[in-house]
Amino acid sequence: MGSVEELRPIFSPKSIAVIGASRSPMKIGYEILQNILVQGYTGKIYPINPEVPEIMGLKVQPSVLAVKDDIDLAIIAVPAEAVPKVMMECAKKKVKGVIVISSGFAETGEKGRLLEEEILQIARKGNMRLIGPNTLGYKDPIDNLDAAFVFGMPRPGEIALISQSGALCIGMVYYANGEYIGLSRVISIGNKADVDDADLIDYLDQDPATKVIAMYIEGIKDGKKFLDAARRCQKPIVVIKAGRTPAGSAAASTHTGSLSGSDIVYDSAFRQVHIQRAYDVIELFDFARALAYQPPALGGRVGIISNGGGAGIMTADWCESVGLKVPNLTKKTIDALRPHLPSITSARNPLDVTGDARFHRYHATGSIMLSDPNIDSLIMVCVHAGIARPREFVGAVIKLVGDKRNLKKPIVACWVGGPEIDEVVQELRVKNIPVYSSASRAAKAVKCLYEEGHRLELIGKKKQARENHS
Ligand code: ACO
Repeated sequence: MGSVEELRPIFSPKSIAVIGASRSPMKIGYEILQNILVQGYTGKIYPINPEVPEIMGLKVQPSVLAVKDDIDLAIIAVPAEAVPKVMMECAKKKVKGVIVISSGFAETGEKGRLLEEEILQIARKGNMRLIGPNTLGYKDPIDNLDAAFVFGMPRPGEIALISQSGALCIGMVYYANGEYIGLSRVISIGNKADVDDADLIDYLDQDPATKVIAMYIEGIKDGKKFLDAARRCQKPIVVIKAGRTPAGSAAASTHTGSLSGSDIVYDSAFRQVHIQRAYDVIELFDFARALAYQPPALGGRVGIISNGGGAGIMTADWCESVGLKVPNLTKKTIDALRPHLPSITSARNPLDVTGDARFHRYHATGSIMLSDPNIDSLIMVCVHAGIARPREFVGAVIKLVGDKRNLKKPIVACWVGGPEIDEVVQELRVKNIPVYSSASRAAKAVKCLYEEGHRLELIGKKKQARENHS
């Protein structure tokens, strides 16, 4: 059985045992059971605790061995030293997969490492796939299953999130919620004793709900397996690889027992398999949202429209500094733009539509620029000049994205003006149109779409070459 089929009982379980389900609302074993119930899980659920007859109205069994039905997934939240025993019981019960929430394994030193090895061997002998230890669990907003111990679900969407850090994982979920970014599956992967990033890439590549895979990684144990999975993957992958510096690397070893490795090696390996690298959470989601909801850019030539000269210049600078081009427009485009511009403005790229631009000027110039054969993508910028009309800017961007879908050229927006008007540009976020608060974020997102265009082109060429040979 391949890893995709092996992981299905973990991520689409028909029955779940919560081992260490607690009667105390302050404990993790209580919270996991509560979260599963709150989301309305429709499969069978078995709380396991030898000390308690009933929790939250459910009958409690002293051990998985006392459960008569089959168990697909066991979520284990008992102290580390008790984990081997309950895992042996799971193996005897022929449980298909386990998530070990408990900490106290490789991240704590040699004794913990040996304990982790012990539970790995129990899982292997028992034919169970193991997620963790030292994990938060997972949250699945598509199938409404909250198998994690912190309250709160992501908005449903098309970006899968895998995180080696549990706390950061939940922080990223709340950040994404605030930005109206929807997620398909959220998996905290912990120490990766068994199931690792490569297994999850393979799994999510087959997942119809996922369009983009976003990852937070501290260390990768099996580099070849990871690179093979990334190379196979048809979907774009964006990664934050933390532990880049001596200080970060030392912290990663005590956090998840990871060996961070040389950052230069990671960087070149990621490039080889077209993984896009993000350097913080904001960037991870900037890229993931652009990849999920805009077409890839088929070239690196960017058109820029702004209602303020400075913002346009800065955007042009950022585009060129990340390796994009801000080309001249064709004569046909220049002629078409002129009637829409005030006489003080020249028709060029970046285009300054001036502070008094309203819906029609934004929309008409945007349409014309997008149709220029020299332009592969468009950045629409609005700054909060006193006479600016951000609501009309937002309307123009939304209409352009809808009208010009057939051109298959990405459009991203950039809003510079702070919280006063943020509520207005929120409409773009709600509609999944990327909107960024700075020129650098917008330019990097377009660069990311350009890299994705390049990746798809190479995949297409490889496919064509294979077909020509067969
Ligand atoms: N089978 C079933 N239930 C058992 C067993 C057993 N063999 N042994 C104990 N239990 C029950 C206990 O009776 C208790 O229930 P009760 O509260 O009703 O009495 C329950 O299981 C929990 O056991 P405790 O001994 O009370 O353990 P506690 O809840 O304090 O801690 C835990 C267990 C949460 C797993 C802890 O050891 C731990 O590892 N905490 C850290 C978890 C974590 O942070 N994980 C990483 C997340 S990622 C991140 O970055 C945040």
